[in-house]
Amino acid sequence: MASAFRPLLLFLLLIPLSVTANLHKSKTLLKSSLFSSTTTSHLNDTPPTTYFEVTKPIRLPKTQPCVYPILHHDFGYTYGKPPVLAKYIPPSHCPSHDFSKIVLEWSATCKGRQFDRIFGIWLDGVELLRSCTAEPRATGIVWSVKKDITRYYSLLVKNQTQSLAVYLGNLVDRTYTGVYHVDITLYYYPAEKKFNDFEGSSENLASGYGSRADLILPISRNFPLNDGLWFEIENSTDTEGKEIKIPQNVFRAVLEVYVSFHESDEFWYGNPPNDYLLANNLTDKPGNGPFREVVVTLDGNVIGAIWPFTVVYTGGINPLLWRPISGIGSFDLPSYDIEITPFLGNMLDGKTHTLQFRVTNALNVWYIDANLHLWLDGKNTYTEGKLLQHQVMPLGISYSSDFKGLNGTFLTKANRSISSTGWLESNRRLLKSSEHAERELHLSPSKSLHKMSLSSPTSFLRLKSRSLNLHLYSNNGSFNGAFVLFPKRASFNCKKFSVSCSSSSSPDPLLVKAARGEPIIQPPAWMMHQAGRYMAVYRKLAEKYPSFGERSETTDLIVKISLQPWEAFSPDGVIIFLDILTPLPAFGVPFDIEQVRGPVIQKPIISEECLKALHPIDLENFISLGSP
Ligand SMILES: *[C@@H]1O[C@H](CO)[C@@H](O)[C@H](O)[C@H]1NC(C)=O
Ligand SMILES: *[C@@H]1O[C@H](CO)[C@@H](O)[C@H](O)[C@H]1NC(C)=O
Ligand SMILES: *[C@@H]1O[C@H](CO)[C@@H](O)[C@H](O)[C@H]1NC(C)=O
Ligand SMILES: *[C@@H]1O[C@H](CO)[C@@H](O)[C@H](O)[C@H]1NC(C)=O
Ligand SMILES: *[C@@H]1O[C@H](CO)[C@@H](O)[C@H](O)[C@H]1NC(C)=O
Ligand SMILES: *[C@@H]1O[C@H](CO)[C@@H](O)[C@H](O)[C@H]1NC(C)=O
Repeated sequence: MASAFRPLLLFLLLIPLSVTANLHKSKTLLKSSLFSSTTTSHLNDTPPTTYFEVTKPIRLPKTQPCVYPILHHDFGYTYGKPPVLAKYIPPSHCPSHDFSKIVLEWSATCKGRQFDRIFGIWLDGVELLRSCTAEPRATGIVWSVKKDITRYYSLLVKNQTQSLAVYLGNLVDRTYTGVYHVDITLYYYPAEKKFNDFEGSSENLASGYGSRADLILPISRNFPLNDGLWFEIENSTDTEGKEIKIPQNVFRAVLEVYVSFHESDEFWYGNPPNDYLLANNLTDKPGNGPFREVVVTLDGNVIGAIWPFTVVYTGGINPLLWRPISGIGSFDLPSYDIEITPFLGNMLDGKTHTLQFRVTNALNVWYIDANLHLWLDGKNTYTEGKLLQHQVMPLGISYSSDFKGLNGTFLTKANRSISSTGWLESNRRLLKSSEHAERELHLSPSKSLHKMSLSSPTSFLRLKSRSLNLHLYSNNGSFNGAFVLFPKRASFNCKKFSVSCSSSSSPDPLLVKAARGEPIIQPPAWMMHQAGRYMAVYRKLAEKYPSFGERSETTDLIVKISLQPWEAFSPDGVIIFLDILTPLPAFGVPFDIEQVRGPVIQKPIISEECLKALHPIDLENFISLGSP
């Protein structure tokens, strides 16, 4: 068995450089880069710094992967030029052709001074990764990004030559000297018999977006082109998209949308309203308020809306914040899934349909494209469906400003609800448990309906998209905040902002879903925000109940104190306020907490006798959390 991988012939194609400079993007150069340089003396022996993003590790099978180094390239002056291309053929020299995981690795080094540059990787127009480079230092940096791309399985194992495209718009001159030296490698992990990963299982309908599609169509720009394959959205009326035709035997469709925001909208969530900018003669500053929504339309009708995650790129706000730990999502920007199965009834006619994107309140510039994941009925040439109901409530948005000079308070509220219901009929057998059923319906990622689909030959698909509520406040003209905002997630904020959003479609908290191993739209955000003396509300309460023992052993107080950080920051999780020593008396070790000395154990365990005096935990003697 040849386990050694024989590298496939690499074909590096560099399309002749074009000189068309894209003016609007050159503005990026003006962005201040206070921290991008370090003094160069005595630094020659310093090893490069390794940068990283904190992420959930990829669950890998125990098999040896086949390694496919597909591209090496030095990204010097690549800005406004065509993407770098490499020929892709699935590895034919792996001992197995059944893979349970495929992982893409981007690894790069850079030295000198450079901005954080956005980049994308596409395979035959389908975007695999949207990311941002780390800002280098004079002594050099290295970093790598690993992404589970098993979701694109059907594309990755397609037995034909495809084209891998990488666009990283870098500018090099005397000041900005950093060239990015990049290696892209693919790892194919052969399936392991017992490897049971729900993400890869097409049988688990409840896992919804996790199962692999049979066909993935790119909704991105066609070659030949300069820049990335993404569409550029420059303002709130700009609409970009593509005409597509889908096979007539699709039984499920999910649109995966990639989004990144730059220049005037890099920090859109901190943009003040226009009346404030106007009144203060600040019209050169980006405005339009702090609300943005990516709207997706099919043949002109709104089918989905995305409230994007506020990724802070590695040069964002203050570059020193991201050395060496980069912001959440910066090395692997989230993509957003919109289930569009209910609309298949309108798309299965074999005709061309138009998918388009726009961004509410957009300022220059948003990079958006999408992958259309399609599941095909292998047994039928045709599936049939009908859209039964489609209700789009107009975006509800209200702004209020109250300011005097540069000081003020702004409140933006927004809500949105899109719901659709449809039915779809197909013959494909997807669920083992119903192998004997003649006809099946398998549509909805929602559990209740998934049950229905097992027995009945026709069934209804109901999908309620998000109905969100966002409250956003900012104070005193300072918009220096980083916070997380996501559809379906609770909320998160920082000193100057408070954001909350709720979704009627997903009542369970993100952390609970993650703990249950259910698919989640992103990892829960949970900073170590425990109640404590840093909080004024806590200090006030401590004045009223000066005994620490009382505070940490009285149920009502525990609940109240535990919820203080949640009320202030709304993280996805809460740390219960409890002293680590609280259980001791329950098994025979009484103690006191003295104001200055802290905990005092009267009878420490210093002999075997003491040990014998201990008894099994007496729950009666233990504080009862949660009881009234
Ligand atoms: C891929 O296609 C080639 C020729 O088209 C064929 O010889 C080869 O066996 C195919 N490989 C697989 C794994 O199907
Ligand atoms: C918005 O952007 C598009 C595309 O660049 C442009 O054609 C249009 O004039 C712009 N509209 C406004 C109001 O600036
Ligand atoms: C803004 O500019 C106008 C005209 O230049 C001037 O009259 C006004 O006082 C300025 N306002 C502020 C707040 O600077
Ligand atoms: C949505 O927002 C609009 C405008 O602010 C408001 O009138 C409406 O009551 C809101 N609807 C909900 C359900 O919150
Ligand atoms: C705005 O706030 C600053 C300090 O926070 C204060 O010095 C200034 O007087 C305030 N301006 C107005 C117009 O209230
Ligand atoms: C905003 O600025 C005003 C004026 O300086 C100050 O009185 C107020 O406390 C500030 N508010 C907040 C929330 O910082």
